[in-house]
Amino acid sequence: MAAPSSSETAADLPWWKTAVVYQVYPRSFADADGDGVGDLPGVLSKVDHLADLGIDCVWMSPFYASPMHDNGYDVSDHCAVDPVFGTLDDFDALVAALHERGIRLIVDFVPNHVSSEHPWFVEAVSDPESDKRDWFIWADPAPDGGPPTNWTASFTKASTWELDERSGQYYLHLFLPEQPDVNWANPEVEAAQHDVLRFWLDRGVDGFRIDVINAIGKDPEPRDVPERMAGIDHVVLTHHETAMPLIRRIREVVDPPGVDRLVVGEVVTGDIEQQASYCGDGDGVSCTVNFVSVGASWDRDQWHLLLDGMEDAYADHDATWPSYVLSNHDNPRHRTRYGGSEARARSAALLLLTVRGTPSLYQGEELGLEDAVIPAGTEVDPGGRDGCRAPIPWTVEAPHGWGPEPWLPFPPEAGPRSVAAQRGDSSSVLALYQALLAARKASPALQHGSLELLARTDLVLAYRRVAGDDERVIAVNFADEPADVTDLTGTVVVGSNGLGAGHAFGGRLGPDEAVLLQP
Ligand code: NOJ
Repeated sequence: MAAPSSSETAADLPWWKTAVVYQVYPRSFADADGDGVGDLPGVLSKVDHLADLGIDCVWMSPFYASPMHDNGYDVSDHCAVDPVFGTLDDFDALVAALHERGIRLIVDFVPNHVSSEHPWFVEAVSDPESDKRDWFIWADPAPDGGPPTNWTASFTKASTWELDERSGQYYLHLFLPEQPDVNWANPEVEAAQHDVLRFWLDRGVDGFRIDVINAIGKDPEPRDVPERMAGIDHVVLTHHETAMPLIRRIREVVDPPGVDRLVVGEVVTGDIEQQASYCGDGDGVSCTVNFVSVGASWDRDQWHLLLDGMEDAYADHDATWPSYVLSNHDNPRHRTRYGGSEARARSAALLLLTVRGTPSLYQGEELGLEDAVIPAGTEVDPGGRDGCRAPIPWTVEAPHGWGPEPWLPFPPEAGPRSVAAQRGDSSSVLALYQALLAARKASPALQHGSLELLARTDLVLAYRRVAGDDERVIAVNFADEPADVTDLTGTVVVGSNGLGAGHAFGGRLGPDEAVLLQP
């Protein structure tokens, strides 16, 4: 993106550029009916927590009717709420409550596959002559009778092809066999998917996070990948020119001219240039999920390269810009990835909320949660992701605001890290997130200013954000020893250790400490 002109204000920008997004994984957020599984009335009961935190937009993971082989990413009815989560009335009440508090809501749209129990697939599989047959991707066996190609499915690491014994053909599933891929090359499928989008837009959503959006454009002629790539999840390798026209038309449905909505694309790749290409010329997805930041270690060089690379990748994009995320429902929480250290988790929050781009938080990171330990033999998820999906502890005493048997164990230190224990404690991780979100909201430089990386030592990452007269400097010490940064001066706006706000910065960062300064 070109350097913002000094006259640019937040009001000139699409709302999502100055927003902080917060992911709600409804199964694990809050349990209103006491059955041990989170639900929509649970989310409704916690909207004031979200408002107090200061986020601007909720992204809610799937709550649609589903047999739950992939915890809702296997949708059997796109336009129904799964009874475990509640009803459409509960959804409407949630939209209203969020909007009343000035919080927008985007929901997950899962376009690449449906549940094998979805009526579309049930019809396609039960009758090879049916109209729905071509809504899925079928292929004859390879000459040896085996799967048509050597592609690898996610989670099972087996073939992406499942034999339909009745017809003798294979159907494609980039994920579980219970998640058949739909055929977006068929215009009827595209029209039906657009109807799904319109259904939720009519209920008031402000946009969508679109699951594995790169995968909806497929090579019309499935062919083997080179042997050395045969073990890579095929979704990572699926980047075909047929995707962009489909994505442009999704954008037209969701965010036509004159309307300001958000389309976040989950583009599965570690290549940030490739990710940015899905934004097109401002007519593709609004922004993408940052697969590099969600996998990055607590390492100064990795972060320096990432910020530099993101600034480069988005330098020529006027309509979009970077996004950053540290944790989500698919990866170990960043505190766990960073070795469990609270100091690192605090500094990471300061980093995430001060870089240029749209940040996305994952429920519970504002409490400094780590992954839960899942006893062997009790795993739920075929992808090994239960640890980061543990329930959020709301109260100090077990079962922490949940029914007596939550669907997964709580994260470590659930009592002292619960919302109730941290609320009102100015030294808590929760208070730090509140301070950072408020500091971001108060500063045009942090909201939409330019980012310049400053030359620093091997231990410290530092950058300057500028918009017009407003300027902030950020320094993050990635080392477990103190670091002198005497050339950085200014007043502390937020310190990662919760101390020093309003005082002159002393030029020294403690181990794993970060600071946001007003020069
Ligand atoms: C990405 C989602 O984030 C993940 O949870 C899901 O398992 C896959 N896509 C398949 O839908």
